Amino acid sequence: MQLRDLLTRAAERLTAAGVSSPEPDARLLLEHTLNLSRTALLLRGGEEVAPEAEARVWARIERRAARVPLQHLLGEVEWGGVRLKSDARALVPRPETEWLLHLASQQLQSLSQPRVLDVGTGTGALALGLKAAFAHAEVTASDLSADALSLARENAALNGLDVTFVQTDLLAGLDGPFDLIVSNPPYLPSADRETADPEVRHDPDLALYAGPDGLDLARPLAAEAAARLTPGGTLWLELDPRNAPALAAELRGAGWATEVHADLTGRERFVRAWRAE
Ligand SMILES: C[S@@+](CC[C@H](N)C(=O)[O-])C[C@H]1O[C@@H](n2cnc3c(N)ncnc32)[C@H](O)[C@@H]1O
Repeated sequence: MQLRDLLTRAAERLTAAGVSSPEPDARLLLEHTLNLSRTALLLRGGEEVAPEAEARVWARIERRAARVPLQHLLGEVEWGGVRLKSDARALVPRPETEWLLHLASQQLQSLSQPRVLDVGTGTGALALGLKAAFAHAEVTASDLSADALSLARENAALNGLDVTFVQTDLLAGLDGPFDLIVSNPPYLPSADRETADPEVRHDPDLALYAGPDGLDLARPLAAEAAARLTPGGTLWLELDPRNAPALAAELRGAGWATEVHADLTGRERFVRAWRAE
């Protein structure tokens, strides 16, 4: 089969399977499996694909049609200025969290040797993105999941970045003080499990769900963070647009100053909090 026909049929297969971005996914899986650049895929469409190579492409396309996340099939993603291996051990890093990286980074611009903590680091995304951007920062990253931490350590090595990883429950044993505590904790209401996209079922449950309103982790996290921030230190949280304003209001009642920031689609997703007293 010619390359361009293989691409067309792969995209059709992914469309039929209900994949939300069938053409880009088909293109990326062909490029990756056949070790082709984007340009080669476009310019060499008339070339025949060897049967053995075609079989390898179809094996991957069928796994994507079964709604295995694209990132797991590619094995590695570019995220926030770092390369991250992605597999079932931790949440696939999301594009909206790159905006949290951007927002939290602004906190560090003026500090010469900031101390940073990433709570619930997963693949290590936020911790590694911050360390890559601020080489002088002293970055610690925690997670309850040993699996996630093993992947985060591999990602630190992949990027040659020095981050301290700790297996613990929220901030237990992490005394600080920290100039910045950043977290993308599990924040979905538990009822969302029933309607989750097939791809999301490949993320660990521990990474996603947090009680009836999705705040079962964020609430104690903020309470524990209060005593671990430097004067002027900041807590940045990613939450769900359904619960971010509610948590910000609760934090104001508990002596924090807060701002709620929108993501790039205009949804109120990020809470910045600092001690008002
Ligand atoms: C939404 S994922 C975020 C992963 C990563 N920070 C990111 O943005 O891609 C939440 C992470 O919190 C971790 N986690 C869940 N409960 C935790 C707890 N009690 N203490 C520490 N980490 C926890 C999960 O294992 C998961 O890695």
